[in-house]
Amino acid sequence: MHILTVIGARPQIIKAAAVSRAIANGYAKKVTEHILHTGQHYDTNMSQVFFDELGIPQPEYNLNIGSGRHGEQTAKMIAGIEEVLMSRTFDGIVLYGDTNSTLAGAVAASKLHVPIFHVEAGLRSYNRAMPEEINRIICDQLATLLFAPTQTAVDNLREEGFFAEHPTLHRRVINCGDVMYDNSIYFAKMAAERCDILDRLSLQRNAFILATVHRDNNTDDPQRLEQIIRAIVDIARRDNIPVILPLHPRTRKKLTAQHLRLLEDEPLIRLIEPLSFLEMTLMEQNALLVMTDSGGVQKEAFFFERPCLIMRPETEWVEIVQHKAGIIADADYQRIVDAYDQLVHRRVSFPPLFGDGHAAEQIIQNILS
Ligand code: UD1
Repeated sequence: MHILTVIGARPQIIKAAAVSRAIANGYAKKVTEHILHTGQHYDTNMSQVFFDELGIPQPEYNLNIGSGRHGEQTAKMIAGIEEVLMSRTFDGIVLYGDTNSTLAGAVAASKLHVPIFHVEAGLRSYNRAMPEEINRIICDQLATLLFAPTQTAVDNLREEGFFAEHPTLHRRVINCGDVMYDNSIYFAKMAAERCDILDRLSLQRNAFILATVHRDNNTDDPQRLEQIIRAIVDIARRDNIPVILPLHPRTRKKLTAQHLRLLEDEPLIRLIEPLSFLEMTLMEQNALLVMTDSGGVQKEAFFFERPCLIMRPETEWVEIVQHKAGIIADADYQRIVDAYDQLVHRRVSFPPLFGDGHAAEQIIQNILS
């Protein structure tokens, strides 16, 4: 079988590592994976570092699309992916998550009748103001195999009619667990052995907060960004606890002089460049608490049994909130401070909700069968 894997943004490169590893470790004679990088993320610390560190094969195709308005960026990707799909026979295309690269792969492949295998299917925020929500709905609609990471994702798809018999739509939903959980288990030990990020930043276990912000509705609205920053600064000062903030390039570009002054005036706040996956893994394992608007970071906090303060109006990973391991605080100063106070004093349980660490093998087996 020849499959085309499309990646483009940081989290997809990480997710694809699990499937590439599963192919290399047991299915290399049966499946040949061809990797296409759209170039949506292009900075070294947003892309190449993950290939180097996670042992992912280098992309065979690189579209070098870069940044742009959504329509423009997606359109260029569709054209590039279409060309590659027409250059040889592919038995299927593997698409990850909900980025513009996912959407482009789904549109290009469906028009050429190439079966779509969607990893991380069925997630919903029910907030259509999010570009990611649009991307994942379209990709799910066009997919043949829908690999759902959680029972909630399966239930969402059932509600949308994906389990109904249909004379022409032959699609199947599989609850395979989360490939990111596979990765977290696999790389956790390696991170502890190889990374010195805690020493470099002079951090002690359970004595710092890890924070990330990158969603466009937070970065592109100066008032929301300011509430987040003020809350982070005040928590750090009040509890005398360092906050490590690896800055996504989008966020760095959107910080105003006033935001920067707030952050830089407080020595407990450490603005750093985006971290590699192993460094991030080690930080997540050791943080007292994680504050984030990222989907992936919410889950990684859960995998490493750290409470998570979610700086979004909603989450697709509702089970984290249901199990009281996370609190949704949106970008609201008071809600963030209150949620922090609750989470640091709460006894939290972290049941296994994201599979058994073998999601990638299940994905390959289902594709083959
Ligand atoms: C994208 C995904 C989001 C995912 C996130 C992970 C979409 C719609 N969103 O958001 O689901 O959680 O990736 O990071 O696809 N930039 C750089 N260097 C880079 C990459 C980006 O400078 O290597 C800057 C560019 O100015 C760009 C901006 O960051 O305009 C945002 O990048 P973009 O790809 O549009 O979306 P993300 O915010 O990264």
